[in-house]
Amino acid sequence: MQKIEEGGNEIHGDLYAAYCRLISLSDEESVHYRHFLIQNGTLNCVTLKESTNLISQGTTGLCSWQGAIVLSQWCEENKEQFCGKNILELGCGVGLTGMNVISICSPKQYIFSDCHPIVLNMLCENVKLNFVSNKQSELLNTFDTTSKLQLQLKYEQTDVQVIDLKWEDIDKYMLKNSLQPDIIIAADILYDSNSFDALILGLKRLLVSNSYAIFAATIRNEDTVSQFFEYLGNYDLIFEECSLPRWIMSIELIYAPVRILKIFQKI
Ligand SMILES: C[S@@+](CC[C@H](N)C(=O)[O-])C[C@H]1O[C@@H](n2cnc3c(N)ncnc32)[C@H](O)[C@@H]1O
Repeated sequence: MQKIEEGGNEIHGDLYAAYCRLISLSDEESVHYRHFLIQNGTLNCVTLKESTNLISQGTTGLCSWQGAIVLSQWCEENKEQFCGKNILELGCGVGLTGMNVISICSPKQYIFSDCHPIVLNMLCENVKLNFVSNKQSELLNTFDTTSKLQLQLKYEQTDVQVIDLKWEDIDKYMLKNSLQPDIIIAADILYDSNSFDALILGLKRLLVSNSYAIFAATIRNEDTVSQFFEYLGNYDLIFEECSLPRWIMSIELIYAPVRILKIFQKI
């Protein structure tokens, strides 16, 4: 609005009305429960507590992004890759992709990770909401500040963990804890080029000869994604493009193209 006024233009009344409505929303009012249905022979339903706003409390992590929906569907269509494997998710937000992968793909271990305290709280609520009341689950641990473990439970065959992990701290974390994922996944984390150095250094540390990463990237800005590819090259990582899932659930978010990237070490 300031920019419009600086340009000598008048602000439309509707813009003021929308602005006032948004700033008068309290955080309490802006939380809702969303139900996501992923098709896999039988229907999988995930219920998530989320913020109604794309950005709230200074983070983008309190709602599910388009990339998480596309990645969930991609994992469902490639579930044999994930069955019995150790999976680490980076920047998982409120947990949509992970909930689907755990329910549909039966991994051996699934580690949700994020670094924002409010996101981690909401994520733990969502993990409990979807898995703890279920008879096939057993709650093992909650909140341990020394190991960064926020929650651990067994759901059917899967060891489910929530950890507080900043990309900048991946190396330090790996020195202190056993962490060797077979597959690293992430959705919609390529939006800020200032974070690419830490992210790719962490990724480089995590990727060993047989492991790989699958990233779902919503392309909002071509330059940002090109920058990410450049950084990958600088760190001797390569990527290949995967085909998109055949079926994607309809969503109300503004549609932007999504790319699925498989990233691995150059041999
Ligand atoms: C746009 S949200 C995507 C959330 C979720 N993956 C999805 O697609 O719905 C980006 C997430 O990355 C997390 N994030 C951003 N920078 C991070 C960092 N340096 N270390 C760990 N997580 C980070 C944020 O807290 C946020 O949850």
